[in-house]
Amino acid sequence: MQNIIYRQIDDAIEERIIAWFGDAIVKYDMLPKRDDCYRVAAMCAEQAVGFAAASPAQWPPPLAQYSDVFIHSIEVAEPFRRHGIGRKLITSLEDWARVNGYRQIRAWSSYESPEALHMWYTMGYAMCPATEPIYENGQIKGLNPGYYYAKILNLTPTK
Ligand SMILES: CC(C)(COP(=O)(O)OP(=O)(O)OC[C@H]1O[C@@H](n2cnc3c(N)ncnc32)[C@H](O)[C@@H]1OP(=O)(O)O)[C@@H](O)C(=O)NCCC(=O)NCCS
Repeated sequence: MQNIIYRQIDDAIEERIIAWFGDAIVKYDMLPKRDDCYRVAAMCAEQAVGFAAASPAQWPPPLAQYSDVFIHSIEVAEPFRRHGIGRKLITSLEDWARVNGYRQIRAWSSYESPEALHMWYTMGYAMCPATEPIYENGQIKGLNPGYYYAKILNLTPTK
């Protein structure tokens, strides 16, 4: 495995990621660009080979005074998988959320990504089986089994 460098995603790196990964980046808001987001890429010789992004999320009532961090994306290019890049990208999101005082980090993954589910489990996330509805034009079109997962980062959060 060649040398991998981890860099925060600027406009130039984002362009390279979109060139590699395609329009899904924009369509599914995988790299949100708001000021409060954290976005990190794994680079190999100036080529993006992995990325992850997270942003703060305010909770709904009756816990509206609390917030946590939602993981928008984690992807590693196929030839680069199983070399610890995914783990490093997620650890980077966790470190950012912890340092910024958030209580927990979380998201949901489909059963169609078993490798990701194994990764969350191995990385100490609490796993909760949950089937999500798939909507089309406001109607439930199908069901997508998967898991919610979350990890506590701060027992005395400041946010
Ligand atoms: C999930 C993904 C990001 C993992 O990236 P990666 O760089 O291969 O992950 P790592 O090498 O850091 O592996 C971390 C741990 O995850 C688990 N894991 C990763 N791939 C796995 C696989 N194919 N089968 C079983 N466990 C796997 C292992 O426990 C691994 O630890 P280990 O290597 O010490 O056993 C990558 O497979 C990927 O991009 N998948 C497609 C996109 C996707 O599913 N994204 C998540 C949507 S929520």
